[in-house]
Amino acid sequence: MGKSGVTAWSCPANIAVVKYWGKKGVQLPVNPSISMSLSKCYTETTIEYRENKNTDGPTFIFQFDGMKYAPFESRINEFLKVAAREMNALKNLHLDITSVNSFPHSSGIASSASSFSSIAMCLCIINSEISGNVEDAKYSLQRASSLARLGSGSACRSVYGGWVLWGKTSGITGSSDTRAIPVNEFVHNNFLDYYDAILIISSGEKKISSSRGHMLMETSPWKRIRETTGRSNAIKILDALKRGNMTDFRVITEHEAFNLHAMFMVSDPHFILMDPGTLQVLKKIEEFRDETGIECCFTLDAGPNVHLLYPSSERTRILSFINTELIHYCENKRWIDDKIGNGPEPI
Ligand code: PMV
Repeated sequence: MGKSGVTAWSCPANIAVVKYWGKKGVQLPVNPSISMSLSKCYTETTIEYRENKNTDGPTFIFQFDGMKYAPFESRINEFLKVAAREMNALKNLHLDITSVNSFPHSSGIASSASSFSSIAMCLCIINSEISGNVEDAKYSLQRASSLARLGSGSACRSVYGGWVLWGKTSGITGSSDTRAIPVNEFVHNNFLDYYDAILIISSGEKKISSSRGHMLMETSPWKRIRETTGRSNAIKILDALKRGNMTDFRVITEHEAFNLHAMFMVSDPHFILMDPGTLQVLKKIEEFRDETGIECCFTLDAGPNVHLLYPSSERTRILSFINTELIHYCENKRWIDDKIGNGPEPI
């Protein structure tokens, strides 16, 4: 009887304040990106494995939310091939992979980061169980981050909790293009209990996949400028995080959100991922900030939903703002009351 076992991990989604958009080489970023791992939005993945000596595998069955999910299955197939090249022990295995998201599939929240990071965490554990190489925890996370990156770039940041940096950054020891590093130890208290209200403007499927979007950057005359802007914003925002400076943080975060969407709009062919409601909410947030002086800010991912970021000290006033002013723009009045999270957990 060959080896068999089961392992399960929960990994968070993350929201980038400095965006990864455009790649080079094998899934390497053109500029560093910085994100906050979330608490309520996560994917739980369980992998049951057994030896299956006659294959050049691994072979697998994948179920998402209890069902087969074809679009993701082919990405997982590619990912497992890559993983087996990195970790030989996986080759002779059959894997039963089941994933569930804490957030509804139709919430418009990207799940590839939490999905691929949770699969990568499981695969690293399985690899050490099969090969008998027990790795120390720090190294094992580095390996999982690097592996997760090959499934979906932003997934490498979901291997850690709190604030996370991915990409070689001058002045930051240990930063790397191949994997993310946690940066909480540098971060001021102002940002360690930070909230993200995810306002669901539309839950529809993305009009363009992020892999296609990244690819369009290849031919974009703005690629160089995006690289320089992203790089300089990463350095500036790390400094703002360190000093606890909410104004600097806000200015860079919002600049990055618009920079990302500007890249979409000047691609060839161009695409628009904001909805009219997105702009209405952004304007409301600006007005609210002008009137109250509260240092909240917004960011956008590759979609129409708005992430309203704010410190815990402003929670009462922000909740009232959302419930009186913003909720009307949310699809079916839906929003997710999320905050910074601790990162992956075994389940
Ligand atoms: O990880 P990918 O390939 O899905 O790219 C994610 C890109 C953005 O979500 C738009 C930005 C980011 O850094 O998360």
